[in-house]
Amino acid sequence: MKLMVIGGGGREHAIIRKLKENPQVEAIYALPGNGGMRGDAVCVNIGAKDIAGMAAFAAEKGIDYAVVAPDDPLALGAVDALEAAGIPCFGPRANAAVIEGSKVFAKNLMKKYGIPTAAYETFDDFSAALEYLKRASYPIVIKADGLALGKGVVIPATYQEAEAALSSIMLEKKFGASGDRIVVEEFLEGPEVSVLAFTDGKTVKPMVSSMDHKRVGDGDVGPNTGGMGTVAPNPYYTEAVAERCMREIFLPTIRAMNAEGRPFRGCLYFGLMLTKDGPKVIEYNCRFGDPETQVVLPLLESDLLTVMQATTRGTLAETEVKFAAKHACCVVLASGGYPNAYETGKEISVPADVLPHVYFAGAKTTENDRLVTSGGRVLGVVAVADTLAGAIEQAYSRADRISFDGKYCRRDIGARALKAGK
Ligand code: AMP
Ligand code: GLY
Repeated sequence: MKLMVIGGGGREHAIIRKLKENPQVEAIYALPGNGGMRGDAVCVNIGAKDIAGMAAFAAEKGIDYAVVAPDDPLALGAVDALEAAGIPCFGPRANAAVIEGSKVFAKNLMKKYGIPTAAYETFDDFSAALEYLKRASYPIVIKADGLALGKGVVIPATYQEAEAALSSIMLEKKFGASGDRIVVEEFLEGPEVSVLAFTDGKTVKPMVSSMDHKRVGDGDVGPNTGGMGTVAPNPYYTEAVAERCMREIFLPTIRAMNAEGRPFRGCLYFGLMLTKDGPKVIEYNCRFGDPETQVVLPLLESDLLTVMQATTRGTLAETEVKFAAKHACCVVLASGGYPNAYETGKEISVPADVLPHVYFAGAKTTENDRLVTSGGRVLGVVAVADTLAGAIEQAYSRADRISFDGKYCRRDIGARALKAGK
């Protein structure tokens, strides 16, 4: 079989490595992929938002199955277009991808179907929002409606901060048209858990839970990033919590999307907060998380391609989705300065025995075939072990053997999970 994976980050690299385990797979094309993936996929210079380009490429190469990983092409209807061209796909159609693409849609869906989430109001008018914020209690959460590269959330501690945030989102359009509408919601507290789930629109099969580390600095300080590391499973996500999430959140969400005529097929990401009043949805994503995928897929024992095809065919109920009872840790190595300005073009050196445990993101190959940095988050290095402590230790010992100028990583990935698990 010939496969095509849309996207070019660490998440896509992890997906590609797992897909390769299936002996029927003869070729995987990554659109656009990145230079670090070269050993695992053929990178093709077609951007993840070039829907017409990917459909034409798929037809030309005779692609048998496509995986659309990032949010942008999903929201733009990549799955709709590829299906129309006769190519079966993993991922939701645009009318279901809206669960991530519009926070207003997601909040209204949860309200209508009684799915637990933070109390909220939506606004498309600056003065009405400002009036509301004058009377609100703080901290409070302000979210731009549309996709904003994971950066459209601010948590002002005072009215003054809220006013400044509101004008940058709604008046100065910091996130473009994503800020035409906003959600203002109640500030929740509790441990956060990421749960990715396979679904064919009828059955939902959650993957092993995970914990992201979004802030740039040790001890969860500093600005938010695309994710500095992950561990799986998440110790806060006990059997009892999992059972409650299935009953109160996962199944109701799948049913709600069906009832709205927007059946969701693919990977639905539940960003949850375990509050004292029970688990609540912080966000939905219409895709695999990054860097959650880098710890979840190495623990998957079932064949990924088989499971993905089952979500497309509607046969997930009969398909086994099994995870190893082990632990995984991913440490992200970033360019010094990230998430603010950073330098690129630094040569990356990875020992041969570490390479199979590395998922590349911001890396490219130069004309003279050197691998150099090209982004903020350069790569993720992963370890799987019987214990969480073992996985963390091994991930860091691998991370320490990788070098490039300005290499930065958090030193405490998994530390909070380790404490919680004791
Ligand atoms: P999001 O982009 O929706 O993932 O939000 C980014 C981060 O903001 C989340 O991971 C949470 O840490 C935080 N956050 C979002 N919504 C809330 C909320 N209602 N209460 C507290 N923290 C929140
Ligand atoms: N790790 C969070 C996300 O993928 O959006």
